[in-house]
This record gives sequence, structure tokens and C-alpha cells, in this order.
Amino acid sequence: MNKRTVASLAPAEMKGRRALVRVDFNVPLGEGGTVTDDTRIRAALPTLQLLLQGGARVVLCSHLGRPKGGPDPKYSLAPVAKRLQELLGRPVAFCPTVVGAEAEAASRALKDGEVLLVENTRFEKGEEKNDAALAEAMAKLGDFYVNDAFGSAHRAHASTEAVARLLRPAVAGLLMEKELEYLGGALDHPKRPFVAILGGAKISGKIDVIEALLPKVDALLVGGAMACTFYKAMGFETGSSLVEPDRVEMAAALVERAGTVLILPHDATVAPAIAEGAKAHAVKRDAIPATEAMLDIGPDTAASYARAILSAKTVVWNGPMGAFETPPFDNGTNVVARAMADATAKGCITVVGGGDSAAAVEGAGLAAQMSHVSTGGGASLEFLEGKVLPGVAALDDK
Ligand code: 3PG
Repeated sequence: MNKRTVASLAPAEMKGRRALVRVDFNVPLGEGGTVTDDTRIRAALPTLQLLLQGGARVVLCSHLGRPKGGPDPKYSLAPVAKRLQELLGRPVAFCPTVVGAEAEAASRALKDGEVLLVENTRFEKGEEKNDAALAEAMAKLGDFYVNDAFGSAHRAHASTEAVARLLRPAVAGLLMEKELEYLGGALDHPKRPFVAILGGAKISGKIDVIEALLPKVDALLVGGAMACTFYKAMGFETGSSLVEPDRVEMAAALVERAGTVLILPHDATVAPAIAEGAKAHAVKRDAIPATEAMLDIGPDTAASYARAILSAKTVVWNGPMGAFETPPFDNGTNVVARAMADATAKGCITVVGGGDSAAAVEGAGLAAQMSHVSTGGGASLEFLEGKVLPGVAALDDK
């Protein structure tokens, strides 16, 4: 990690100063506006505690959801302030605006060790445009800047990028640091064998990560419906499985070039449709019935992927092996999650990319048994693709 972190701040850089902290509090809200999964809020606590113990005055900002066209109560961060207050065990003031006189006054009213959360940054039109004037207004809320929002670091937005260029110091939070160290460590100096597992519905979203990982890994295991685009390229019947016809040629070229590093499922769990308890059965990959779809990797593949994981020293996983939200099509994903947990116990570094695979690991109750479960979906994917994350690039170098 070549970026300065919050842990390097001198006492005088924190005490009595307003820290504008970008967090990723983009969490799911349920009926009545309650937070249904507070993982991302809990993940930010170490940074907040460090700042508060250092006597900083903490001003938090985040987006939530994808509101279009200005403020929308459905996307208010007010319920998040409530949940954060419970988790922190100290009051969290909430400002119903993002910037401007009220937010600035609220930030200036903070005393050492106090916390303020301002409203959803995406209520401001300039946020997603990385607007300079909005960044200037945001910069008035802090004396220095901390970015702990790994999940949003792939976005060049006013609160993640432009504002980081206006406040000094501008440092990474502890969650940001941990994310970059686990993901970066796996890519840059993995203990071998290094195995990557990629799943998900579409090959189109995973091409760049496949290309980036192929030269680095000892084996790249493919799961999910995207395997079917490869099957099509190999001339197999794919029935009613999801296939991306415009990617078949590319899949063929990848299979040809990757040689033995790229491993495709050799059997598939198929059914006429995704439905709980559907009549599912396993077939060899070249025997998918014309009227059925591949909805999970088959049991033989799941067992062989588990063996590969258990013999690895580093494993990175992104994307489920099947339609894991609907049993019995969760089997492949659960077998992979279990094998990763067992591998961790044997000293393997196991890293789960965010999004669906993180949700699957959480759902299986195995998150605590992984070396690291990323809080970033799109961000972890872009990082694995080797892209520069604008929210990281804008921070101070070490
Ligand atoms: C996420 O949930 O991946 C991040 O919070 C980013 O959200 P976005 O895709 O709406 O920018």
C-alpha cells in the first residue's frame, strides 16, 4: 500500500480538527427504513474509533442507493445514523442536507470526539459528475480528509475524488487499507498455488478480470451461468441456459489461449426453470437437455473445485457458482464457501470479492472463517482487473 493511512496521523493532525470521512454506508434498508445488513457500517468502526480517540470531530458522508433527480426520502441516510449510533455507543448527529450553511454550521458545532452524518451525497447533482463546486462545498465540512469507502473507490465522484484533492492530509481509512492489502497482496505476491474462482451469470462482466488473472494464477476455476457461453464455444448443447451469443467467439479464443489454467465445470445441475425445490438433476456438461438450463455447477465439479481450493495457499473468489438464492441451486456455492473456510483453517489466504459471493458466504455463516470478505462489489472486481481506483489514487502517497 503506497498511500498514507489514518494510522500515520500525528496527534496534532487529529485533535480538535474536523475529519471529513467518506464511508460506504450504501446498505440495504427494509420496511420502515431499518438497516437490514449493517456489515458495511461495522466495517467502518475501527477508523471512526481511531479518529474519535484521537480527539477528532468526525463528519461522515456516504451515498445510499442510486437516487435520480435529487433528494428522495427513500434513500435518506437517517436510518443509518440511528444504527451507527447504536454500534458506536455514542450520539450521532444527522444533518438533512449534504453541504451548505446548515451542514457547515453543524460540522463547526462539533466538539472533540463527536460525530455528524450528513445526508446522501447523491442527493446533490454534482456528486456523480465529480463536480468541482460541490467538492469545494464538501471541503468546507472538514479540515482533513479520510477515505474509508473501499466499496465506492472505483467511482470518481465529488465525495471520493474531487474533494480528496482539496483537503490535506487526505488519507486512507483502516478498512480501505485492509481491503487493498488483502486484494493487492493476493495479486502481487501470492503464496502458491494461487487459485481464482470466478462465477456469475455473464461472461461479459468478467472478461477483464479473467484476462488480468490468467497470467497470475495457477488455476482459474469457472462457475455460474457464464460457463455456458464457454460450452457454446466448445460446441455443446446449452438448452435454455443463459448464453451470451455475442461473446461465444471470445470465449472460444480464451479457451484456446488459456490452456490448462482455465478450468470449466465438467458437470452441471440442470432443471427446466429456477424454482425452489425444482426437479434438478446432474448431467455431464456435454449432455445438457435441450429443454433445461444449467443452474449450478454439478456435484462432481463442486467436489473437484473443493479439492483445488484445499490444496491452494491463496484463493480469490468472485461470483457465485449457480442461482444460489434458490435451493437446491446453492450447492456449488456452498461447497466452495465451505472449502474456503477449511482452507483458511489450514493457513491458506482466502479472499472473497464483495457483492453476491460475499452475500453467499454471509448467508452460509462462514464470513468469519475467511481471511477477508471484501465490502466492495464493483470496486473489488475493478481492483482485480488491475484498474486504478480513482478514490485511492487521489489520496496522499506515503
Ligand atoms: C456498491 O454497493 O457496490 C457501492 O456502494 C457502489 O455503489 P454504486 O454501484 O451505486 O456506485
